[in-house]
Amino acid sequence: MDRTAERKLLRVLDGERFDVPPVWLMRQAGRYLPEYRETRKRAGGFLQLCYTPELAIEVTMQPIRRFGFDAAILFSDILVIPDALGRKVRFEEGRGPILEPIGPEEIPAMSGEGAMEHLSPVLEAVAGIRSGLDEETTLLGFCGAPWTVATYMIAGHGTPDQAPARLFSYRHRDAFSRLIDLLADVSADYLIAQLKAGADAVQIFDSWSGVLGEADFEKWCVEPVRRMVARVRAAVPGARIIGFPKGAGIAYGDYRAKTGVTALGLDWAVPLSFARRLQEEGAVQGNLDPMRVIAGGGALDEGVDAILEALSGGPLIFNLGHGITPDAPIAHVEQLLKRIRG
Ligand code: CP3
Repeated sequence: MDRTAERKLLRVLDGERFDVPPVWLMRQAGRYLPEYRETRKRAGGFLQLCYTPELAIEVTMQPIRRFGFDAAILFSDILVIPDALGRKVRFEEGRGPILEPIGPEEIPAMSGEGAMEHLSPVLEAVAGIRSGLDEETTLLGFCGAPWTVATYMIAGHGTPDQAPARLFSYRHRDAFSRLIDLLADVSADYLIAQLKAGADAVQIFDSWSGVLGEADFEKWCVEPVRRMVARVRAAVPGARIIGFPKGAGIAYGDYRAKTGVTALGLDWAVPLSFARRLQEEGAVQGNLDPMRVIAGGGALDEGVDAILEALSGGPLIFNLGHGITPDAPIAHVEQLLKRIRG
């Protein structure tokens, strides 16, 4: 029997609507949870946590156990791809990710060879999570979109406006294009492997797509994601894929049609009236401002109510407009769920 029919979130991706929408939160496994901080300490480093299946499974399950979200998201990071490409990624406490910045001359020699073997512990975690989850709970896999991952590879760390990557894309266009293509192919293969290991659907995080002008957005965000979607569907027909081009603004309008993603993840700045139009073509996910979760009280309730009022008439996956922050109080997450589920 196909038990996936019991998974509400998958039914929404297929276009169904529910009075009470399915809900999960980006970054739902993380530092706002004391049990995460405990496991993180036990793991030593952040990447050890990602590459030790038993621990990755444990932290993936923590928010499901505590809150009963409709979806679990694989615990990993978008930067395991550069790590698998040999770029020496480190995560420093309080500083975020640090990588060895890549130069244009290094790009021609790069290849995806051996990347999937490097990522095999993550795939093992996917299989373990799926077998431990309830039948009703969806398992989401994910990866970063090529542009967003490239911004870290080029700067060597997070940057406020991704200026180093933008500059690199103008100065070293051929090398940059080659890097984006490599990331697209390796990331698509990684998503295929996640889907084959037991992920029910996947999300592509393009967290920094909002800094690009029109032509660059087409070239570095739309086109590589289109290429990834085509490659994934060629291997896994009908694969359900959520695209999250954060900050895309009016470019959200034809992103689904151009890339072929199943659903659109919306950031909190997307007007709800526009979101409703986007919903006419398929499921949308979002888009509560994570600051409302920190604030709690009326600010949280009003934000939830506005989204439900505007979007619960169509296929909706309730989520935040970006990841939950480490200072989000657990009581406010409980309040959010109560407000959605009644
Ligand atoms: O959503 C989940 O619960 C699954 C796990 C997940 C993590 N990172 C765990 C993580 C997911 C889906 C991500 C995606 C990710 N990682 C993105 C895209 C989404 C977004 O938020 O924009 C990006 C840009 C990254 C890169 C990254 N990883 C940064 C910039 C940082 C440091 C800043 C921060 O939030 O700490 C990380 C580290 C990271 N990834 C942590 C977690 C739980 C915190 C690390 C720690 O425990 O010390």
